[in-house]
Amino acid sequence: MKQTNPADEERIREGVREYYGKSLKGSSDLKTNACTCSCSPDKRIAPILPLIDDEILDRFYGCGSPIPPLLEGLTVLDLGCGTGRDVYIVSKLVGENGHVIGVDMTREQLDVAESHLQSQTERFGYTKPNVDFRQGYIEDLKSVGIEDSSVDVVISNCVINLSPRKDLVFREIHRVLKEGGELYFSDVFADRRVPDEVYADPILRGECLGGAMYTEDFRRAMEKAGFQVVRYTSVSDVKVDDPEMRKLLGDVRFTSRTVRAFKLPDLEDECEDYGQTVIYDGGIEGHPEWFDLDNGHRFYTNHPKSVCGNTASMCSGTRYGKHLHARGDRSRHYGKFECRDDEPVGGCCCR
Ligand SMILES: C[S@@+](CC[C@H](N)C(=O)[O-])C[C@H]1O[C@@H](n2cnc3c(N)ncnc32)[C@H](O)[C@@H]1O
Repeated sequence: MKQTNPADEERIREGVREYYGKSLKGSSDLKTNACTCSCSPDKRIAPILPLIDDEILDRFYGCGSPIPPLLEGLTVLDLGCGTGRDVYIVSKLVGENGHVIGVDMTREQLDVAESHLQSQTERFGYTKPNVDFRQGYIEDLKSVGIEDSSVDVVISNCVINLSPRKDLVFREIHRVLKEGGELYFSDVFADRRVPDEVYADPILRGECLGGAMYTEDFRRAMEKAGFQVVRYTSVSDVKVDDPEMRKLLGDVRFTSRTVRAFKLPDLEDECEDYGQTVIYDGGIEGHPEWFDLDNGHRFYTNHPKSVCGNTASMCSGTRYGKHLHARGDRSRHYGKFECRDDEPVGGCCCR
């Protein structure tokens, strides 16, 4: 992670605010495809999109679809919610008894999001809104009233790369999540640390490239914040066609990734074998035949699968345990577990 001082950090945030608040009027103003998502939405989300106001959809700058399953009744926090596309999709998925909080620092983005609150509430058939938007920094969620261990799921779509203090963002996410809670977010990553001139360029930063995290630094920062294990559910290449930008970016390869991580006390930094298995009951909506916990873990319905201690905990210690049933415990250790947490070839950012 780059070392910055508070003045640089504020300048970076001001540049990003200017970009999203004033320069961009809609997704078509973006200069690269880094903050766009061209894949078809999944079966749960496709029927909700026609219920969302066009102005919100036209100003969607996400690079994935970080909306996990099993959300009914939960409290979900969207970091850098923009004009609220994902907040409103999740508003429908959590139902009237759930709650969605959208945090963003840019007033112009929130003004659009808030102006549709009433009409979205009516379209979803709710008697009162289950959504609220708060203006503030994702590095300091206390100042927008998000208490310790109060959130079930944190989502974010193409935002954390923009932060000059990602260490604080991950620390805050860990603080606000309940035990067993999930962080599920899409973002742009780099295969190496980006050169200083790329990091400092306001347009490349605004386009979600300049601040892209080098995957290994990301893993280290997450570990420091308390997330021992990071899993990817999708990885796809980001193409930069503009020759001037390409020249500046040099050999850096960018990918758009969706990340799954849990706040669990017993995760280990390596996969260990305790002889545990997990069996999927086919009950997750839209996934009758199999469920992919991440790229390396596909669970076929009614077919027991040997798993490492970490995967067993991710099932038994979270809401996924309702359908991914873990068997066995850690009383006996059989050595290192060869977990297949490799990347797929290709992959789609919007599964
Ligand atoms: C690429 S847009 C994505 C918006 C939204 N998630 C979407 O998918 O349309 C980035 C958003 O993150 C917000 N943002 C960037 N850095 C932030 C920070 N440090 N704190 C709060 N919001 C931030 C910007 O204001 C902008 O609305």
